[in-house]
Amino acid sequence: MKNIVILISGRGSNMEAIVDTCASEQWPARIAAVISNKASAGGLQFAASRGIPTAVVDHKAFDTREAFDAELARVIDGYQPDLVVLAGFMRILTEGFVRHFEGRMLNIHPSLLPAFPGLHTHQRAIEAGCKLAGATVHFVTPDLDHGPIVAQAAVPVLANDTETSLSARVLKQEHVIYPRAVRWFVEDALTLDQNRVMHKQGTTQLLIGD
Ligand code: GRF
Repeated sequence: MKNIVILISGRGSNMEAIVDTCASEQWPARIAAVISNKASAGGLQFAASRGIPTAVVDHKAFDTREAFDAELARVIDGYQPDLVVLAGFMRILTEGFVRHFEGRMLNIHPSLLPAFPGLHTHQRAIEAGCKLAGATVHFVTPDLDHGPIVAQAAVPVLANDTETSLSARVLKQEHVIYPRAVRWFVEDALTLDQNRVMHKQGTTQLLIGD
């Protein structure tokens, strides 16, 4: 049984998808805790309703990023995680924190990385005239929104797309690829060679959505 700790800052729809898929597919894993930097994060209630331990480490209570990250790491480590899943966790992490969980921390970013790291990805994709958008699950490295790519989902950008319509279409695919990628990790199905993550059985790591 592997322990998964999920970090959120908001509604937590990706966390919900992972919790539900872990249960329905009976992964060899348990969600050991859901932790937020905001007490108001909607996803905390969902986690509690499923009997998952929750914790809040409020970044505003710390003077420095290092102090916050040290406390966050201490709380996470208390749940003995095999994998830390960032699911809409809106904090920039220090190098020390990232190194502590290196190789066992995943993130989902709502763009086809390496395009559009950072914020407002959907608006930027529309403004750039992209015909394809999507989301990326990747291992976390100290470089923000970089790191070896585990899975990507691509969707078309439609002529009348707005930030709202495109983000909704991408989010639907996030809820497919993130649970899938986490499952691969807990099943030890991934290999890492330099910067390339491959599935041991050659399973496709690309999802084309609509
Ligand atoms: C998602 O779009 C994810 O890609 C990004 O933040 C959003 C989180 O949404 N990192 P939710 O909290 O999982 O609903």
